[in-house]
Amino acid sequence: MSGTMKQVVLASYAKGNPKPSDFRIEQVPVPEPGEREMLLQTLYIAVDPLIRFSLDEKLLSGASRMDLGAVMVGPTVCKVVASNHPDYSPGDFVEGRTAWAEYAVVAPDQSDYRGPPRKLDPSLAPVSTALGALGGPGQTAYEGVVNVGRLKAGETIVVSAAAGAVGSMAGQIAKALGARAVGIAGGEAKCKALLDLGFDAVADYKEPDFADQLKAALPEGADVYFENVGGDVTLAVLPLLKRGARMPMCGFIAYYGVGMEGPGPDHLPGFYRHIMAKGLEIKGFAGIFAGQKGLDDIAGWIKEGKVRFPESLVDGIDAVPEAFSSVFSGHDHVGKLLVRIAPET
Ligand SMILES: NC(=O)c1ccc[n+]([C@@H]2O[C@H](COP(=O)([O-])OP(=O)(O)OC[C@H]3O[C@@H](n4cnc5c(N)ncnc54)[C@H](OP(=O)(O)O)[C@@H]3O)[C@@H](O)[C@H]2O)c1
Repeated sequence: MSGTMKQVVLASYAKGNPKPSDFRIEQVPVPEPGEREMLLQTLYIAVDPLIRFSLDEKLLSGASRMDLGAVMVGPTVCKVVASNHPDYSPGDFVEGRTAWAEYAVVAPDQSDYRGPPRKLDPSLAPVSTALGALGGPGQTAYEGVVNVGRLKAGETIVVSAAAGAVGSMAGQIAKALGARAVGIAGGEAKCKALLDLGFDAVADYKEPDFADQLKAALPEGADVYFENVGGDVTLAVLPLLKRGARMPMCGFIAYYGVGMEGPGPDHLPGFYRHIMAKGLEIKGFAGIFAGQKGLDDIAGWIKEGKVRFPESLVDGIDAVPEAFSSVFSGHDHVGKLLVRIAPET
């Protein structure tokens, strides 16, 4: 296939939260697939917060660091345009980690630990859900709630960043398990969206009476805290955890822009006091461990009408830098934020 395409490259390392000016859009030739490779047309790009870990000048944590001028990479859903690989045919829909570009060449035999691109069946669910409810965010929510949090029917879970891709699934999975779900989000619209999704109560962390809202939402405390944020949100949750509460540590987005030190004198001494006094169990995890079992259970709950898959769309590759940056600075989107690069048909 000849012609040119747009791609997003890293223009400067992120200082604090990423800004659209940290990225540059380039026009380049569409690549040609070689032996056992395929050419993909990008349909959706997921602007995941964890990509921030690869944007520090010096790698602090995470798997890799981007070079300046390199094409950004992340979770995508694509359509196969041309294939020199026997396992894939033109027209197939696939989910994987590919370039932030309108087209990408992929060698399935040289995939990373996630394995080759996953083929999707559009008759089972919209292919975009492979980046949300039926993909990494769904698996992450499942791993945190079911395997790490060990949430049981009748217990209460509190979820931070609850209106995001992972949080919105975590609360719904909790409800499907027969637990009580309390969501923390920023702004009235997001809090209302959580109640519409079936959360039992919400607290708006952007309001001055947030701590009181949270107390009212958790009159008997919480058995599990699904941690996505860190900082002041976490400090408000800790006093409300029950003895022996579990704290699946999924992420800490409020601190992604501040390196290893944290802002000023941190609150770790008080944090550790809560851990000791209450015998809290805190465990970090990665969503991929939920595997196919997590996705199968979620698909079953979707079929039963117990779980929905909220997603928000913005359009065009030029919108990717702004969309990615908005994840860290508060936006109005609920559920998985996707950038639609091309129509599915
Ligand atoms: N462990 C794993 O395997 C794994 C996998 C995927 C994601 N994660 C982590 O899970 C968390 C959620 O990811 P996601 O994919 O659901 O992201 P998402 O859909 O982009 O949602 C992120 C949400 O975080 C909230 N937020 C941003 N900055 C904040 C701040 N300073 N204080 C409080 N809230 C803030 C925003 O909601 P508001 O507008 O309500 O502030 C935003 O909607 C992140 O920490 C991410 O890194 C971990």
